[in-house]
Amino acid sequence: MSAVPNITLNDGNTIPQLGFGVFQIEPRGTAEAVSEALEIGYRHIDTAEMYGNEKEVGEAVRDSGLDRSDIFVTSKLNNSFHEPDDARKAFDTTLSDLGFDYVDLFLIHWPLPTLYDGDYVSTWKVLEEFKGDGRARSIGVSNFHVEHLERLAAETDTAPAVNQIEVHPYFTNEDVRAYGQEHGIVTEAWSPIAQGGVLEDETITRIAEKVGKTPAQVVLRWHIQRGDIVFPKSVTPSRMKENFELFDFELDSADMDAITALDQGEDGRTGPNPDTMDKLPS
Ligand SMILES: NC(=O)c1ccc[n+]([C@@H]2O[C@H](COP(=O)([O-])OP(=O)(O)OC[C@H]3O[C@@H](n4cnc5c(N)ncnc54)[C@H](OP(=O)(O)O)[C@@H]3O)[C@@H](O)[C@H]2O)c1
Repeated sequence: MSAVPNITLNDGNTIPQLGFGVFQIEPRGTAEAVSEALEIGYRHIDTAEMYGNEKEVGEAVRDSGLDRSDIFVTSKLNNSFHEPDDARKAFDTTLSDLGFDYVDLFLIHWPLPTLYDGDYVSTWKVLEEFKGDGRARSIGVSNFHVEHLERLAAETDTAPAVNQIEVHPYFTNEDVRAYGQEHGIVTEAWSPIAQGGVLEDETITRIAEKVGKTPAQVVLRWHIQRGDIVFPKSVTPSRMKENFELFDFELDSADMDAITALDQGEDGRTGPNPDTMDKLPS
């Protein structure tokens, strides 16, 4: 059962609420995984220059026989390319690697406030150019904290359509989500099952048993009911199918609250903290 809902972004474009992420899928396995995902019914793929598999994503989209316009594809600007001219060149390379004349969504991958003199504003203005010339249908950010979003609001004309941040039951990231809700910026939850790290939690396994679903389905359904966008990654076809079957059941408010209460604050964070993240690819 699919029926993936669309979410309308602040620029009027729509995005499927459930997609497929390709972080840590080797380039040689990416086309096969994306083809399988498209076969199952996924119509939203989340990649990034940093993942090294944009070419293979493009190949699978082209080989699917589906119309390009039926598949929502996101990519992201790598950390080495925040200087405006570098960002322009990097975006050209992303489009040529994907083999597309547009992406549906293009994001600044990390704000890098300790690099580039803390200037992610000029970088954002270059993404506004890509939206202006139609080569990025929507633009957004990733791993931006409230103060980074406030600065864009004060110094630029376009609000990001999305902010892609780490969110899962052990790290619910409420302050950043709340800012997004108040300002029309949709939250995309990365590592939605904490790369498997929340699936043996006894609250989650108890709810899964009660509703007759798997722990991954329960956690992904929790995200969906909170209104966030998710794109779980898997190279295992049975899990790809499992993760797509989220729309034939509902969690009641007590179960939703019990999962939200698993939040461990900063201790639950699994990835880098955006305030200090300063990794440049070699
Ligand atoms: N913007 C950012 O900075 C950022 C950072 C991280 C991730 N992301 C995006 O978010 C996407 C998802 O996050 P993620 O890849 O970090 O982690 P994730 O989706 O939370 O978890 C992926 C892991 O869980 C396993 N898994 C998937 N479905 C499962 C299931 N039903 N039961 C048991 N295990 C399951 C996968 O194993 P197998 O593959 O072996 O099946 C894989 O090891 C990424 O692919 C990427 O697109 C963005």
